[in-house]
Amino acid sequence: MPNVLAQGKTIECKSGENLRQVLLQHTVDLYRNQAKLINCHGVGTCGTCAVMVEGDVSEANWRETARRSLPPHSLTQNRRLACQTTILGDIKITKFDGFWGQGDTVVWTPGG
Ligand code: FES
Repeated sequence: MPNVLAQGKTIECKSGENLRQVLLQHTVDLYRNQAKLINCHGVGTCGTCAVMVEGDVSEANWRETARRSLPPHSLTQNRRLACQTTILGDIKITKFDGFWGQGDTVVWTPGG
């Protein structure tokens, strides 16, 4: 059973679960500001669920790669779209600032 560390929470989940769903089910602040209301609900088009992921997760699929190749995201930035990410093992999540989570300032870390 993988553990997800995010915003000071340790969440136990099943391998194969969707990262966005796990974070939202455990009231982690995945979205920034108005993105809580204005997002694509996991379709993979808005890009606002971007987080830094450390640990064992699925490779980026074509939908995620396409969205992260568009500004303000960049494929060279260490971010993943939570809605397109499958949890495979223990992971740590960090959220950055900016409407899309594209900034350089940490908003919350795995520990809080
Ligand atoms: S929720 Fe829109 S891209 Fe993930």
